[in-house]
Amino acid sequence: MDCEGGFKQLARKHTIMPENALSSTDLPAAVIVAAGKGLRAGQPLPKQFSVWRGKPVLRHAVEALRHGGTGPIAVAIPVGAEALVGEMLADFDDIILQTGGETRQDSVRLALEALADLEPTHVLIHDAARPDCPPEVIARLVASLETSPGAIPVLPVVDSLVFEEGGEMATSAPREQLRRVQTPQAFSYEAIVSAHRGWDGDKTAGDDAQVLRAQGGAVALVAGDERLHKLTFAEDFMDATNTPAKPPRIGMGYDVHRLAAGEELWLCGIQLEHDRGLAGHSDADVALHAVVDAILGAISAGDIGQHFPPSDPQWKGAPSSAFIEHAVMLAGQAGYAIGNVDLTIICEAPKIGPHREPMRERLAALLGIQADAVSVKATTTEKLGFTGRGEGIAAQAVAMLIPQVGVSHDH
Ligand code: CTP
Ligand code: MG
Repeated sequence: MDCEGGFKQLARKHTIMPENALSSTDLPAAVIVAAGKGLRAGQPLPKQFSVWRGKPVLRHAVEALRHGGTGPIAVAIPVGAEALVGEMLADFDDIILQTGGETRQDSVRLALEALADLEPTHVLIHDAARPDCPPEVIARLVASLETSPGAIPVLPVVDSLVFEEGGEMATSAPREQLRRVQTPQAFSYEAIVSAHRGWDGDKTAGDDAQVLRAQGGAVALVAGDERLHKLTFAEDFMDATNTPAKPPRIGMGYDVHRLAAGEELWLCGIQLEHDRGLAGHSDADVALHAVVDAILGAISAGDIGQHFPPSDPQWKGAPSSAFIEHAVMLAGQAGYAIGNVDLTIICEAPKIGPHREPMRERLAALLGIQADAVSVKATTTEKLGFTGRGEGIAAQAVAMLIPQVGVSHDH
């Protein structure tokens, strides 16, 4: 996507503002950090790209900031997510996509730097994982910037708090003085950029207010809102409005490779000692190829040869594990998570039994599911046929895909 061009266009065009917002030329810029892995949420795609209430979480966040009155938005995204995010946000102008960093703090700093040429006066820094941002909160934050270089939304703590020591309560904590901190956090652009540049602590600061405070900048507190809840765990996606609308899907895959001298033997992502190995495309891991075809079959997305042609330099020399990861991503984009996989390897030798558990573990890790949802079986063909004569190894697999809660076919 042409981010620069997109921005220049919308800087003039953008008109959506709440009544009490600043004039369009004074709209604060924004950073949305969407470069995390979303591990705790356990969704097939990182949580910020997963669908929640009918739309990708990141899209909700962008819409909410725009509705609340923001100008250009720099979005920090994971490596390789340009196409996915570009498509997700295609109808917004004034968006800059910036590859994020190792930690949230790195992602914020990189996205802030991506806004530098625009010289914004104010900037809102927001987690993509908070899809619902009431415009009133933005108005309160922006108003506070008149008198303070930083402002953050906070909520009172309702439960009592204690310090723990070795599983026991040590003392109680002063709940009255403590606040829960949310995003977006609002800053003078210059103040927060220089605070990030000057930060010499570790790279895991909890938030940007902490970075500004470390440089002595004042941070005002405004009332936050429960709707700013950060989607963190799988339960957060199991909301009543996220009803599954689609049936599960099933796919099958079958593959054969020839056994030849001088080749490595890779089966189910694991290299085995054997007098011969499998010959063919990639590492010729016949078992993984069958699983890839099962996944592609379940989403009616063609077969392995179409997706990973040997002629495509992107896949030249790639291990078959990369095909699995790509197929899982395609399933996620189609709105499906891998439910379970059942794989049968058909050969006379080597014996699969001793390798069954490591194979299950490896395949489960590649699929991003628990090992108890992966079955690896083996059979001989009683010395009959090409597998019986040891000329090759065959594998067949079925994969059950379950609809990701609330996902439409579009994403
Ligand atoms: N984030 C980021 N870059 C990172 C890490 C996090 O842009 N290197 C973003 C996330 O995408 C998210 C926000 O920071 O929008 C808050 O982080 P968190 O809720 O912890 O998200 P994740 O790190 O993605 O999730 P988890 O910790 O469960 O893996
Ligand atoms: Mg995290």
